[in-house]
Formats: sequence, C-alpha cells, structure tokens
Amino acid sequence: MTLQEKIIKLKKEKNAVILAHYYQETAIQDVADYVGDSLGLSQQAAKTNADIIVFAGVHFMAETAKILSPNKTVVLPDLKAGCSLADSCPADAFENFVKAHPNHTVITYVNCSAQVKALTDIVCTSSNALKIVTSIPKDKPIIFAPDRNLGKYIIKQTGRDMLLWDGSCVVHEAFSIEKLLNLHKKYPNYVIIAHPESEEHILKVATYVGSTSGMINYVKAHQDKSFIVATEAGILYKMQQEVPNTELVPAPAKEDNTCACSECAFMKVNTLQKLYDCLLNESPQIKVPKAIREKALIPINRMLELSK
Ligand code: 13P
Ligand code: SF4
Repeated sequence: MTLQEKIIKLKKEKNAVILAHYYQETAIQDVADYVGDSLGLSQQAAKTNADIIVFAGVHFMAETAKILSPNKTVVLPDLKAGCSLADSCPADAFENFVKAHPNHTVITYVNCSAQVKALTDIVCTSSNALKIVTSIPKDKPIIFAPDRNLGKYIIKQTGRDMLLWDGSCVVHEAFSIEKLLNLHKKYPNYVIIAHPESEEHILKVATYVGSTSGMINYVKAHQDKSFIVATEAGILYKMQQEVPNTELVPAPAKEDNTCACSECAFMKVNTLQKLYDCLLNESPQIKVPKAIREKALIPINRMLELSK
C-alpha cells in the first residue's frame, strides 16, 4: 500500500477528517477531505462530525479548530509549523497595546495566537476582512493586528482610520516589484492577482486582491485570461486543476529568496509521512487552556456569524 492509501484507510478507521490549506504540498492536498482558505477551514472545523481533526496547515489554524471543537482531538503533523505573522504579535506586548488604547474595537486577523484572539473583539480572515471592518460603527476607533499590509489595504478600501500593529508575512513580502513589472512587460496581457498580505506596491498593480479561495474563484470566472499569481506557490496546484487550460505564472521573488517563487517554509515542514504519523499516534495534539479558549471563541464565533 502507498503512504497515501494507508492514510486514507487509517482516517476511515479512526473517523478522522483531514483539513488542508492550499499551501500544503500536493501529496497532502490529494489525501485531504477539504482543501481551502483560513475561513473555509475554520467553517469545516466547526461543523465536522469526525472524532479527530488532522490539520494540515500551520499552528494558528489548528488552534482555531481546537477552539471551535474543544472535545475533538486536533493534531498537527509538525508543531514547528508556525507563522511569521502570528510570531510578530506576542500576546503580552499586544495586551499592553490594547490597554494603551481603550475604547478601540480590536480586530485581529486570524493569523495570530489563541492568547491574542482572547484579547480581541472580532476575528477576520483575508476573505471577510473588509466586511468585518465595515460592520463596526463609523464612530468607533479600531485597532487592527497583526498584518500591517492587510491593514493598509483595508484602510485604502474603506477609508477607515485604523491603528495598525506592525506585523507582516515573510512570504508575501518576498515578492519583487521590479521583477514583477518586468514580467508584466514581457506578458502585458497577463492579469496580476495578489493576496492582501503582499506589500502596497504589489497590490497597486494587481487587478484582483483577495484570499486564496477568492483568487481561485476569480481565475475560474476569467478562464479566457492568463494570470501572474502573487501568493504562496502551493496555490497553483489546486488553481491549475480548476482551470486546466489557463496559463498561470507565479509572481517572482527577490534575489535572496530560497526559491524563484514564494514558498512558506512553515507550511512546508508538514510532510505526508508526518501526517501519517500524527494520525497513527494521535500526536502532536493541539491544546488550548480553557480560560484562553473560552475568551478566544467569542471573537471567532462573531466572525463566523458575520460570514454566513
Ligand atoms: P488565506 O486565508 O487567504 O488562505 O490566507 C492564509 C495565509 O496564511 C496566507 O498567507
Ligand atoms: Fe504565515 Fe505567511 Fe506562511 Fe501564511 S504564508 S502561514 S501568513 S508565514
């Protein structure tokens, strides 16, 4: 039996579900029950009947699943699957920041720890951020954390003046605007699409800006066009399956980047073997202390309610 066949057999025996993000390696995406963006994955985690959730993604995503389904076993193939954005916002420093700005509504992007979510009024993802921010009454000042690029993009789109935390994603900041413009000069008919974690100069030249699922849906709706895709390169696998006859080119990364496109090293620490092992051993498990979990659940549920 291949490793993939063993995983599929074991997952049936254990009544487990495999939830995978688009940035996971292709072999993992192939064995997943659901592949999606952060919002879709948390919606799946909230409604699954499985006993075990195998989260093929990064730590904050698995933690969100555990907060939503505390009685289920949630395993992550490798606990080192972190996120530079979540790391850029330590809970103690964020707590001081929130305390220094009372009366502000605190909106956090889902890429943050459970402790930070516990200090939050409402969570958002890249697919609902504009909707969540505009749902806050205009006279309420807002703190937005941790992604400054997404924050700046929302300010531009909504005209809301938000106080931003200074965090960012190393992967989306690795795109080179010079190389991107050169590529576009070579292929002027290609449409640039970008994830809002990218820097302002990248978003400025993009025709469409949205979450990973949003980008896939956009490409599906415009299959007659060709695209330059500015997000983590793992998305190209599912995207190409959806639009087999459409030309897709990854946006180029800066010279000093480890790959010519952009890859998230955190996402890629998960492997098919580690996924099998974590399902077999039911370890490593995600644990969230009850007091944090109960507080963090409130802003996550507010987001899910507004995203129906
Ligand atoms: P999405 O919710 O758009 O999939 O983004 C998750 C993420 O980590 C992007 O870097
Ligand atoms: Fe975090 Fe960036 Fe990796 Fe997404 S791509 S998980 S934001 S480091």
